Amino acid sequence: MNVIEENRRESISTQLFSSANEASLIVAQEIVELIKKNEQKGKKTILGLATGSTPIGVYKELIRFHKKDGISFSSLITFNLDEYYPISHKHPESYYCFMREQLFDHIDVPEEQINIPDGSVDRSKVFEYCKNYENKISELGGLDLQILGIGRTGHIGFNEPGSTVDSRTRLVHLDSLTKKDAARDFLGEENVPRYAITMGIGTILDARKIILLAWGQAKSSVLAGAIEHKPSDSLPASLLQGHSNVQIYADLSAAGELTRIKHPWLVKLMEWNPATIRAAVTWLSQKVQKPVLKLLDEDYSECGLSDLLTQDGPSYDLNIKIFNEVQHTLTGWPGGKPESPDEYRPERATPHPKRALILAPEPLDDVIGMGGTMHRLVDQGHEVTVAYLTSGNLAVPDTDACKAAELIIDLAKQCENGETAESRFAQRSWDELQSKDDFAIDTDNIRRLKGLIRRGEGKMACEVCGLSADRVRFLNLPFYEKGKYRQFMLNNCDIELVVGLLEELRPHQLYITGAQAEPSTVQAVCFDATKRALDNLADADWLKECYLWLYRGSSQEWGIHEIDMAVPLSPTELGNKVQGIYQHQTQRSQAAISDKRTRDIWRQAEDCDRRLGAAYDQLGLAEYEAIEGFKRWCTRA
Ligand code: F6R
Repeated sequence: MNVIEENRRESISTQLFSSANEASLIVAQEIVELIKKNEQKGKKTILGLATGSTPIGVYKELIRFHKKDGISFSSLITFNLDEYYPISHKHPESYYCFMREQLFDHIDVPEEQINIPDGSVDRSKVFEYCKNYENKISELGGLDLQILGIGRTGHIGFNEPGSTVDSRTRLVHLDSLTKKDAARDFLGEENVPRYAITMGIGTILDARKIILLAWGQAKSSVLAGAIEHKPSDSLPASLLQGHSNVQIYADLSAAGELTRIKHPWLVKLMEWNPATIRAAVTWLSQKVQKPVLKLLDEDYSECGLSDLLTQDGPSYDLNIKIFNEVQHTLTGWPGGKPESPDEYRPERATPHPKRALILAPEPLDDVIGMGGTMHRLVDQGHEVTVAYLTSGNLAVPDTDACKAAELIIDLAKQCENGETAESRFAQRSWDELQSKDDFAIDTDNIRRLKGLIRRGEGKMACEVCGLSADRVRFLNLPFYEKGKYRQFMLNNCDIELVVGLLEELRPHQLYITGAQAEPSTVQAVCFDATKRALDNLADADWLKECYLWLYRGSSQEWGIHEIDMAVPLSPTELGNKVQGIYQHQTQRSQAAISDKRTRDIWRQAEDCDRRLGAAYDQLGLAEYEAIEGFKRWCTRA
């Protein structure tokens, strides 16, 4: 379903979709239509393609069209946007391999019609090579359509900030944030190539049509900048504003910072409801930097909210109403306060104690999002269980696995004076780690060892957050344990495992995360698995009584108006949460999911909770050291 809203601040035509899948299908259909139209005219179609997580859904649909509907791609000529440099075709993270795996091995584009920049060209020949790449595109009459993703630096292709509007295919240096984003794929930032060959912005702008795709909340601010700010080479995607035929397709999470979504009252006549009223008043308070209770009628009218005043004013009434609403989100009793009136509390007083189940896609998600709240729940006597849906083994560096294997081998030598079953397993893993080619897929033994390491870290972190290790469960969902990044595929046994856990525990509170994550991430796939499990259980009586709470992901920040439960943390509680996060030692270098270039993921969690505390303070509520925020989630929204 398209969401049609006022878009007058947008300088690029942007269509919003409730899911990336829906939009991907439409793009794939558009490509097929284009091919058919050109074929009728006896022409080939020249298509520019992107890599990364974003276009994967489009490629899946194209493959489906080929396999199920017999669509042929034999008249297609493709040019990929970019390739890391230096990199060999054989490198599993090369865009060459990516394109083969994700598309070309499954459809019938003739080999000689596929063009991907070659990351192995000799350095002395790169300039010439790039010129030829450009020439080849123009000799064929130029690109009919270019598909783009957008990086968190605002890059398109690998045109990082600073790239000019007339840049052409060339060798570029990768931005540090882009390298951080690629670190997971390359098993560490130090392994990410420093350079890339990319089509220029000028090359992209020469295409007759451009489609840019964006999914997930992590892209929201950069996408809004590209669409709503003045074009500038400090945000390369904004330079697309100079093209007359660009279409952006975004899901609602990626569109979250567009004015029509975030501050709709600035661009359209509102039909006010409680949620938009709360959003507008908290926005106004932040904008004019006055506590809610000090907002005047003039503040409302000068900032475009006079219709709200007319409907719900005067400001005095409106201020008190919203102040109370926000006040009522605050609670030191995330499991409900026993024997107390609960009309204005986010959680019910009864039953007490509650069974609280915290589902974490990977170890670490739980403590980052709600380490302080977990502690409170335990302290207040609730029966808390943390269940890790995946082991997180893919994110463990080889060096940590080697260290663990050494430890086990040594221990057996010292204690048993020889070998044990454990040390034999460790020895096998060690040998396999030593003979592993760079970037080769881990063997089952290595993955098991890495999974065990994260298991230990997860348990220790929970202990620090007050939860006994025997309350920690590991589901090891097969989609992850047998899968690899970007290629995760849920199937029934994943869902059944989640259903089984839910049925067994029948929680009164369920904490989940990943709702707005980019669809190919572990967090998004786990969210999907949970959603499907809950759908299967829709008729269960216990579920009707269960409150579902969303906790924030590691790269996610919520606006105050979105929060239904805010759990304050004292300085000591915040310090303790950070200690919990530190237990995830193997994740110290996985600072990939970061908006703040100078802070590692550990510090970011702390900063983020502090910012939320400061935001409540600014609205005129009590001043807390930090706050963890939660949204109430309704599966049938
Ligand atoms: C890839 C490319 C890049 C990506 C961008 C987003 O060919 O040109 O600009 O589109 O980095 O990457 P994902 O889709 O992985 O978020």
